[in-house]
Amino acid sequence: MPSNIKLRCGNAKELIIDVPENSQDLILTDPPYDMITPNIKTPPLTQFTKEILAKNFHRILKPTGNILIFVGLRDKFRWDGIFRQYHFALRAELIMVYPAGMKTPKHFQSAHESAMQYSLSKNYYFEEGALFADVYNTKRARGVTRNWGYDYATAPADKMHVTPKPLGMVQRLVEILCPEGGDVIDPFMGSGTTGEACVITGRNFTGYEMKKDIYLFARDRIKAAGGKRKKEEVWW
Ligand SMILES: C[S@@+](CC[C@H](N)C(=O)[O-])C[C@H]1O[C@@H](n2cnc3c(N)ncnc32)[C@H](O)[C@@H]1O
Repeated sequence: MPSNIKLRCGNAKELIIDVPENSQDLILTDPPYDMITPNIKTPPLTQFTKEILAKNFHRILKPTGNILIFVGLRDKFRWDGIFRQYHFALRAELIMVYPAGMKTPKHFQSAHESAMQYSLSKNYYFEEGALFADVYNTKRARGVTRNWGYDYATAPADKMHVTPKPLGMVQRLVEILCPEGGDVIDPFMGSGTTGEACVITGRNFTGYEMKKDIYLFARDRIKAAGGKRKKEEVWW
């Protein structure tokens, strides 16, 4: 079945108020981190904005739903404190090892990043069959990622000022954390990676983006993904 797609250009903290209660299977998002680099100039979210978002995440997520949020070094603990206030339990921290980090002055290359999985109950959706087998070939499913970098081929950082997540990784996260035909929201969709992953895998998608040029890029990308829809993976 084709995905139902709703895209809006505007501020996530205002748009999310219209999302119905208990309607989302997965909130998969990558908000601006609490840092500013020469390439990524989007200001960090305030504590107040984070709190409004967490409150609405609690309202819109189904009892079996998941949050998967990409976090930076500094905001990881801030988000965690806020999510705990709204009764979300931390289920896992995923470490993505990248071939290289971003170029930032006077810094070690930060070549890994975290994504945190939260849920409201232990009864969260989790499709184990979609995990990778582990590297020791014991056939036990373990991981979600391979050695990908930011997908600058999709959305060049110097033009777009976003850090596009690898499509293959996001696709797999969607398949593990949301049933087919389910509802996914990404309030900070950037270049539209989550939206494309949803179209390819048959999930419904709601996406927000504040910057008009990035929004238009994402809209076109997600529209074009309709033609690519297929069951197989799109890793390589
Ligand atoms: C880290 S990027 C997301 C990148 C995305 N995961 C991808 O693969 O392209 C975060 C995005 O959130 C947008 N953004 C920042 N503040 C926002 C807000 N208050 N409401 C909506 N979008 C916002 C930024 O313009 C940026 O494109």
